[in-house]
Amino acid sequence: MVSTSKYVATPPDTNGFIPYETEAHGVWRDLFAAQQPLLAGRACEEFIEGLHRIQLPSLRIPQCAEVSERLSEATGWQVTPVEALISQREFFRLLSRKVFPAATFIRSRQEFDYLQEPDIFHELFGHTPLLTNPLFAEFSQRIGEIGTRAGHAYHDGLARLYWRTIEFGLVETPQGLRAYGAGIISSHQELTYALESNVPERRPFDLMDILREPYQIDVLQPLYFVLQDFRQLLDLREGDLIDGIDAARPD
Ligand SMILES: [Fe+2]
Repeated sequence: MVSTSKYVATPPDTNGFIPYETEAHGVWRDLFAAQQPLLAGRACEEFIEGLHRIQLPSLRIPQCAEVSERLSEATGWQVTPVEALISQREFFRLLSRKVFPAATFIRSRQEFDYLQEPDIFHELFGHTPLLTNPLFAEFSQRIGEIGTRAGHAYHDGLARLYWRTIEFGLVETPQGLRAYGAGIISSHQELTYALESNVPERRPFDLMDILREPYQIDVLQPLYFVLQDFRQLLDLREGDLIDGIDAARPD
């Protein structure tokens, strides 16, 4: 969910196939090789299990259709290629139908380490593994359903919750602090920074705190919210979310 893009998505052909250049596959291969060794001890178990299940190729950019096949076996979700920019309304509508919209371009080598826009590596490597997890898949769909039912006035509030969980969430586990947010897990810099640096603030997950805090899309995050347990996501009730968004609006 970003408002501007300097990247142009490669459109799919009539069969939905996106013909990437050799160099684009090379960027994926190098991103994958750099990121995978960082996951152990940093990404949560559920993500690592999901990555195993989704079996992304390490040497080439996969097509959304092949990822969808394994995803739908697990939870009924699909990934669909979209232009880099889609409206919040369309975004929530797709999530409500268990469809994850994926920006299809891949970053340039100049932005190899840090990218403020979601590219295909972020979308597929960062997001799809946890969408194989029933609890996480249900939470993602629920955000889409609430966004679709509640309408535009609630989209910014839901975007804050989405940002602090699905994009940049941390979770406490018996083995220690772990990342589950796709924005962290797909970023070489942010995965170590979010967990190991003394710079960012880490607060316990709190709905009202999240709804009151604006977020920045163009920096390593100064603040992360930490779940005690993934169940906290499903414990969020629609009525509480709607009331919370209303209560958090500036006067
Ligand atoms: Fe994302």
